[in-house]
Amino acid sequence: MNSKLQSRVEKVGDAVAAGNLTQLEFLALNSSLNLADGHARQELTAGQAKIIARLPDLWAEAQERTVHEIEREAQESYFHLLGQHSYPGGDGRVLSCYSSSVAMEIYARALATTTDAVALVHPTFDNIPDILTGVGLRLVPLEEDVLHGGDLPVGLLQSVGAVFVTTPNNPTGRVLSEEGLRGLAAQCAEHGVVLTLDTSFRGFDTDAHYDHYAVLEESGCRWVVIEDTGKLWPTLELKVGWLVRSANVGLPIAKVYSDILLGVSPLVLAMVRELAEDAADAGLADLHDYIAENRALLRTELAGLPDIRFVDEDTRVSVERVHVGDRYAADVWARMCEHSVYVLPCQKFHWARPAEGDRLLRIALSRSPAAIAAAARVLRSVLLDT
Ligand SMILES: Cc1ncc(COP(=O)(O)O)c(C=O)c1O
Repeated sequence: MNSKLQSRVEKVGDAVAAGNLTQLEFLALNSSLNLADGHARQELTAGQAKIIARLPDLWAEAQERTVHEIEREAQESYFHLLGQHSYPGGDGRVLSCYSSSVAMEIYARALATTTDAVALVHPTFDNIPDILTGVGLRLVPLEEDVLHGGDLPVGLLQSVGAVFVTTPNNPTGRVLSEEGLRGLAAQCAEHGVVLTLDTSFRGFDTDAHYDHYAVLEESGCRWVVIEDTGKLWPTLELKVGWLVRSANVGLPIAKVYSDILLGVSPLVLAMVRELAEDAADAGLADLHDYIAENRALLRTELAGLPDIRFVDEDTRVSVERVHVGDRYAADVWARMCEHSVYVLPCQKFHWARPAEGDRLLRIALSRSPAAIAAAARVLRSVLLDT
């Protein structure tokens, strides 16, 4: 590498290292080729467009009926859509939040009243470690291979008050199996550790549609789950994060919730109910096909490039990781920014050891095929030139 390029790489690397992933996502927000954040930005389907055209009706409904009724219907539609039939909706253990990050902040504040340490899956989206450390919690990395490899080390469980798992994980797409969840829940019950799941990407992978709440309730462990409607449908950031907890969780979650919000707009809840019903009526299967086709398109556009690998071969979530060989992902990212194409370098996902993400890019797939194809062509030319 020549010295000019080396110096630019170092500068970009420093900039990337100093910020967080959301700061990189901000840069992309106004670009037509924003393949950075994992939010849904594809066009509405015909079924979804009909729902959006009915927003004035939903507004009227939200004014006329009680929030409680609409919230119950939205939860029922969403949780059943994704196979979560045993969710504890009947006794007020599902709290509606503006987003999954807000749910996580509430949970983190409640958790910090009883423990100072959490085992967190590694890698994962960096706002999770940022929120947890933001309330003073110390993080212990839980490597994905260890998580999926069988029982967790007893020493690890004895050293923390909670285990936090993102499933399906962002960015890797790995899903905790039913058997894996059952084993982990039993271990958490034995050690009095709060088992916490972030299932924001659940909708994309049917392997994550077994009834998690049945497994959790049966285990007797203390548990918290954060669900998220925000990754599935292109709703311009109108979304709900659901904060769900076991009856025995022993944390002041309801109190912290009330410190922060009264509730989510019933208009948004009614919209989520309608979108979930549309998804149950074939929309979800169509979405799975759409993401699979976008993934195939990206892989085809980048086929034949020397040193380039798709590291998560079987993933079904709405993001794709690309290994860029000997190149620095931060440099490829910077070169793509020059063409107004935005993706994410992966260092920050590796919150404990950022260098493990040095050669990886993450590309969002919840975009139109035209955007994926255009971005892939730029990426191809940058990779050939870097
Ligand atoms: C796994 C995971 N959880 C939570 C969030 C936060 O979502 P939001 O920005 O909608 O709060 C993200 C964002 O991409 C995420 O990937």
